Amino acid sequence: MILVTGATGTVGREVARLLAPGRPLRILTRRPELATFQGPDVTVVRGGFTDPESLHRALTGVRAAFLVTNQVGEEDDARFIDAARACGVRHLVKLSAAAVEDPEADDLITRWQRENERTVRESGLAWTLLRPRSFMSNTLSWAPAIRSEGVVRALHGESANACVDPRDIAEVAVHALTQDGQEGRVHALSGPEPVTALEQTAVLSKVLGRPLRFEELGPERARSALLDRYPEVIAEALLHSAGRQRAGAKARVNSAVPALLGRPARTFDTWAADHAQAFA
Ligand SMILES: NC(=O)c1ccc[n+]([C@@H]2O[C@H](COP(=O)([O-])OP(=O)(O)OC[C@H]3O[C@@H](n4cnc5c(N)ncnc54)[C@H](OP(=O)(O)O)[C@@H]3O)[C@@H](O)[C@H]2O)c1
Repeated sequence: MILVTGATGTVGREVARLLAPGRPLRILTRRPELATFQGPDVTVVRGGFTDPESLHRALTGVRAAFLVTNQVGEEDDARFIDAARACGVRHLVKLSAAAVEDPEADDLITRWQRENERTVRESGLAWTLLRPRSFMSNTLSWAPAIRSEGVVRALHGESANACVDPRDIAEVAVHALTQDGQEGRVHALSGPEPVTALEQTAVLSKVLGRPLRFEELGPERARSALLDRYPEVIAEALLHSAGRQRAGAKARVNSAVPALLGRPARTFDTWAADHAQAFA
C-alpha cells in the first residue's frame, strides 16, 4: 500500500492519478470531495497532519508514502514521520525544493524545507528527497490578468528559471515510490532549459493565438501584489527568492528527469499547450 499526501494539490494529484489504476493506494486529505481518483483499490482517509488519529488510520498497513507539506513554519513533517514510524512505514518520498542546495538561499521557506529534510534524514526510515526547481504551473497565477487584460505582470522579466513540469516531478515520485534502489537518493529536478517570464509570455501568446503584453513590476508593486496573496513573512521570502533568480541562481539545468524517466523533461511549450484552457 502506498499513501499519497498532497493529493488535492499540484504534484500529489498527479502522483495519485498515476498510481490509482494499478496499485493499492490511500489518500490523506482534509477535502475528500476533491480526491476522486479511479482505481480498483483506492481509499480516501479524511484528516490531516495536525490530527494524529487520522494519521494513524491513513498510515496503518502502508509500505511507502509521498509526503507533501506546505504550511511554512509548521512541524507537519515531524508529526507525519512520528506516525509513520509508529505504523511501520518503510520508505518516505519527500517533496522538498531545489533552493535547499543553494548556500545563498536563506529565506524563511528554504530554511523550513532544510529543517524538514533534516527531520526526514534523521527519521530512521528509508527516504528519497525530491528537490524541484520552480513549477511551470506557477504561471497559472497570471491567468486572471491574461484573461481580463491580456497582460502578464511579473518581477525581473529577463531572469531565467529552469522551471519543471509538475507532471515530471510526479513521474519521478512514482518511480521513487515503486522502484528498487531509491533509498538515500536526492533528485534535483529541473526542466530542459532555462526560460524567462518574457519568454513564457511569448509562448502563452502563441498558444492562445492572441497578443499578450509583458509589464515589468518594480519591487514595490511586486511586494504589494504578493501581500495581496500571502502573509508578510512569506511575501518577503518570495521576494528574496526572486532576487536570487535575478542573480542567475535558478538557471542551471540538470539531468535527473531524463536519467530517471528515460525521456527528455517536458518543455514550457508543452506545459503551456496542455494548459491553454486555464488561460483562455
Ligand atoms: N511551487 C513551486 O514552484 C515549488 C517549487 C519547489 C518546491 N515546492 C514545494 O512544493 C510543496 C507544495 O506542493 P504542491 O504545490 O504540489 O501542493 P499544493 O498545490 O500547495 O497543495 C498542498 C497540499 O498539501 C495538503 N495539505 C496542506 N496542509 C495539510 C494538512 N495539515 N494535512 C494534510 N494535508 C495538508 C493539501 O491537502 P488538503 O487541503 O486536501 O488536505 C494539498 O493537497 C511545498 O512544500 C513547496 O515548498 C514548490
